[in-house]
Amino acid sequence: MDTITPEPRPAWIAGRAEQGADTLVVSHPYDGSEVATVAVPGADQVERAVAAAAGVAREFRRTPAHARAAALEHVSRGLAGRAEELAEVITAESGKPLRWAEVEVTRAVSVFRLAAEEARRFAGELLRLDGEEAGTGRSALVRRVPRGPVLGIAPFNFPLNLVAHKVAPALAVGAPIVVKPAPRTPLSALILGELLAEAGLPEGAFSVLPLGNADTERLVTDPRLPVVSFTGSAPVGWRLADAASRKHVVLELGGNAAAVVLADWPDLDGAAERIATFGNYQAGQSCIAVQRVVVERAIAAEFVPRLAEAVREQRTGDPYDLEVSVGPVVDEAAAERIAAWIAEATGAGAKVLAGGGRAGTSVEPTLLTDVPADAKVWTEEVFGPVLAVSVAEDADAAFAAVDDSAYGLQAGVFTRDLDLAFRASAELEVGGVIVGDVPSFRSDAMPYGGVKGSGVGREGVLAAMRDLTEERVTVLPLP
Ligand code: SIN
Repeated sequence: MDTITPEPRPAWIAGRAEQGADTLVVSHPYDGSEVATVAVPGADQVERAVAAAAGVAREFRRTPAHARAAALEHVSRGLAGRAEELAEVITAESGKPLRWAEVEVTRAVSVFRLAAEEARRFAGELLRLDGEEAGTGRSALVRRVPRGPVLGIAPFNFPLNLVAHKVAPALAVGAPIVVKPAPRTPLSALILGELLAEAGLPEGAFSVLPLGNADTERLVTDPRLPVVSFTGSAPVGWRLADAASRKHVVLELGGNAAAVVLADWPDLDGAAERIATFGNYQAGQSCIAVQRVVVERAIAAEFVPRLAEAVREQRTGDPYDLEVSVGPVVDEAAAERIAAWIAEATGAGAKVLAGGGRAGTSVEPTLLTDVPADAKVWTEEVFGPVLAVSVAEDADAAFAAVDDSAYGLQAGVFTRDLDLAFRASAELEVGGVIVGDVPSFRSDAMPYGGVKGSGVGREGVLAAMRDLTEERVTVLPLP
């Protein structure tokens, strides 16, 4: 597919396609080839986008649910109709293997469909107030109203679906959104803009601004965008939250997700295959890619060699090859950092059980053991195809190891023991526990987000709709 167009791909300013004041070149992470040129809006265009979002907010929140749902359904159908093209564009801009890019498009189709369904159902509740004598003869209607226009900032690792998770819930509740895709991967978001532009939304309800990160800081503090929803790295996210301290801020940040394999799990080959796949899928560039593996001692000698074998079996190479599961990381700087972190761990005594090398932006799927507790591959978010395995005496020690982290997004626990599963669910300091599988499972309908350094607030279509709205109480003389 030819992604290069005669003119730069236009930005979307208040729903209209416009060329910008500048351009940026998007390149393919696998071989550095030029993929496309994109319009970068100037200050006056950014101002028009924000002013239009603020100006249309009142009108938009009054639109009937059926109209918002119809617009979202239109986008969902449009994404499905352009699935092949979109998957290729995602692969071109991000280097994500085509097989995972196809999954991403399917998920984005669902996100818009789910948002359409929820838009029709989303309502408030009637609260009786006569439980206390003072409330006798009264009830309260509790409705949810948008907090206001949203600034959505999306990362490079899911260039379509994490933009969809910003845009679809906002439109579902009637909140205008100004979305900023990652500068490395703006193309699929701009195609989404084409579909949004056909959806019959009021002018100003959406803008897609492929800005550089530095130009975004001003938007973060702009009072006309009272909600900031950010997905990306922890240091950037927390800095934005400080800058926007008076705003409602949602942060979906990183993690160093753990998979725990307990001694009762019957299918060690199956667990090894899932962990190897989801430690390395899209080169480990997912916030819930498995990074830390904690194995109960009783099965460690049997399990660890199987895991090493499964890691070695990961298919690497050209991301357009449908057999390939592990492509490049996003750029050379990321690959160098990952290699440096592996070297730091091995320099401090870690052993390499698989992989360990890199060529350009392609980092070999790597499995490390005997990793010191303070090595970055254990304590920080690697965002690369690197797994670190450690052994725990029992389930208690394994759960303690999971929680020994500054992050807490999701954890996976391979157990058939219901008691242990419920203990993990109740006690682990994470936003979600996946029983019998890797932490990388995500349904777009479920609440998704972390605790500790992994962020605040929740995404997932309905959870985000709640988060983007606030309760408005109307007290009625209703016994
Ligand atoms: C993320 O990297 O935070 C998103 C993971 C996903 O949507 O599967």
